[in-house]
Amino acid sequence: MGVKLTANTFKKVQDLSEVEASEELNWLAHEIERHNILYFNHDQPEISDTDYDLLRQRSSIIEAYFPSLASHNGQNLRVGASCISRFGKVKHSVPMLSLDNAFNEMEMYEFTDRIRRFLHLPDNEPIAFMAEPKIDGLSISLRYEKGMFVRAATRGDSLIGEDVTANVATIQEIPIRLIGDDIPKIIDIRGEIYISHADFSEINKKQKKIGAKLFANPRNAAAGSLRQLDAGVTASRPLKFFAYGLGEAESLSADTQELINSNLARWGLPTNPLVKRCDTANALVRYYDEIVQQRALLGYDVDGVVYKVDRLDWQYRLGCSARAPRWAIAYKLPSEQAITLLQDIEIKVGRTGALTPVAKLKPVTVGGVVISNATLHNEDEIIRKDIRIGDMVRIQRSGDVIPYILGPINRQRHGNSKLFVFPSVCPVCSSKAIREIDTMTGKTEVVRRCSGGLICPAQAKERLKHFVSRNAFNIEGLGSKQIELLFENDWIKNPAEIFTLEQRNSTYIHPLEEQKGYGKLSVEKLFAAIRARRTISLERFVYALGIRYIGETTARSLSQTFNDWNTLRNVIELAADENLDNEAYKDLVNIEGLGPSAITSLISFFKEAHNIKVLEDLLLHINVEQVNDIQNSTSYISGKTIAFTGTMDSLSRSEAKVQAIRLGANVVNSISKKTDCIVAGSSAGSKLTKARELGITILSEKEWIKLINEN
Ligand code: IVH
Repeated sequence: MGVKLTANTFKKVQDLSEVEASEELNWLAHEIERHNILYFNHDQPEISDTDYDLLRQRSSIIEAYFPSLASHNGQNLRVGASCISRFGKVKHSVPMLSLDNAFNEMEMYEFTDRIRRFLHLPDNEPIAFMAEPKIDGLSISLRYEKGMFVRAATRGDSLIGEDVTANVATIQEIPIRLIGDDIPKIIDIRGEIYISHADFSEINKKQKKIGAKLFANPRNAAAGSLRQLDAGVTASRPLKFFAYGLGEAESLSADTQELINSNLARWGLPTNPLVKRCDTANALVRYYDEIVQQRALLGYDVDGVVYKVDRLDWQYRLGCSARAPRWAIAYKLPSEQAITLLQDIEIKVGRTGALTPVAKLKPVTVGGVVISNATLHNEDEIIRKDIRIGDMVRIQRSGDVIPYILGPINRQRHGNSKLFVFPSVCPVCSSKAIREIDTMTGKTEVVRRCSGGLICPAQAKERLKHFVSRNAFNIEGLGSKQIELLFENDWIKNPAEIFTLEQRNSTYIHPLEEQKGYGKLSVEKLFAAIRARRTISLERFVYALGIRYIGETTARSLSQTFNDWNTLRNVIELAADENLDNEAYKDLVNIEGLGPSAITSLISFFKEAHNIKVLEDLLLHINVEQVNDIQNSTSYISGKTIAFTGTMDSLSRSEAKVQAIRLGANVVNSISKKTDCIVAGSSAGSKLTKARELGITILSEKEWIKLINEN
């Protein structure tokens, strides 16, 4: 190569034309491939590691900016690994578990006592722990083969995550190559991706400027930045990383957690400088106090302290439950609070008509993040807490929940506070807002709802926002802000109109290109994003409809049960027949996680003529994919209907269900002729008897575990 590579050797990625980018990617691919061969096959590298890394980093950054060029060059990232498409699924060879929590000192001591009992240690035997800040970000697993970064996966359901390799490759803090001569051939590094407080406010400033949705907290910003189909966006966000542990590791020479940490650091991975060994119980408490003290100064969100048994042989003996390791615990930090002025209360009308009171606060910093809105939940909460406009209120923010108001500071009430009268009509469409009576419990619901239903523009608009949201149609460039604008100006009033916008726009005298906030390029991009969603998976489609009680999980269950849209719709329409022996209704009842309210809601959705019209209009423009039902054709249970009964000793029933679903089975609650197989734990009752009568295959817990292990 002959040239000394520096970051300046290359033209700025932003300045490359697509042709130049493509040419350079080709050149890089050849160059990287040549150096791979020199390095891996001949042990004769021609360039320094740093230069090699620079080439790969350059390649991934260009790919990130030019995603259309990425597919044929994508394999650059993965030496020795087959190319996996972005957001494909990755099975974790070692599950990415969660942590059990301790909320007070006593629970922390219970944890250390449990360990002592489990290991049969005498009272005077010290147990050393590694203590670390618990970073409030996203967990990630990084696979390195022969020291080279080959794949990154999110935690997902702990067993299967999403492939975010291309996105993670753009994070500067994550090395493409590890340094050292003792790196296991294959190693999964586990850690947390996060965003600092300072970067978080910068991101939100930029979001505001471009009219995009603001992130509620740094963790959401990190998640949103990482899970971008366009890795160029990820590249532009300052994501950071701390490594804290390992997943699969081939021939590791460490016997303590402390050594794992120092190895990670030596290999070039960022580790948290506050990680500390604690040899006594007192030291554990002191560590916690120190972190509480330093919390606001750290510059990033920390939601607890993690204690890990230091000796790895003990970790191994302690093992893990289905959810979390027994050798570690998260001692939660108190949530952060602040006091500020409640300036006003506004009512937000949701897509199901729910009126939610939102507190408008004098902006205040809570744990490094500026808060100006908080939820007040519902009218009963306001009365119960006696919250009045003009009060000084205490607000609380903890990483994963929307900030909320704990209550007023009564001492500081000066007589000018105003009682808030909750409206009895919808503030948007003026329809009556009522509190329904729950038919199951006979109680009045806490939520007041606008009864305007389909005529309420607020509901229609919120439904549209939901329709385009990330887990539904996920249309890039069509977020809440844009829907707000397009709806108000009558460009898009219903889902079908999203897909006719491009065609209509070409006939307008003043097309979208001329509207504020839009230009030729952004409009083209928007239409391309819309076109890209003309084909949609069944589960996303069902979820996007925004039917009350049908969330992502139930949408997934429905689509996995019925496989295609027409069947699903037929079953729901048939279930509306009030005949008690209604087979279709029973099919719905039998779906795991689908309760009576959800079923009633589905049925009434399809009874409503307006909904049918909206659906039919929409279906003229899109194609709903069928579910590929056999997900794992090698497994005995894939495509089969299975039920669990009795208690199992070695795993929870929920875990068994997750395993079954992962192997492509359809899990049901009750047994019928349609059930193929049941797994019976101990003291299985009537279900087992019924299964015998019906001649259904019965598996014991042991047989089940064997089957799972074989797959
Ligand atoms: S150790 C087997 N250490 O907390 C799980 N986790 O609530 C071992 N986290 O999903 C996890 N900082 O993403 C560990 N220093 C730390 C951590 C940490 C943050 C996250 C991690 C995990 C979650 C569990």
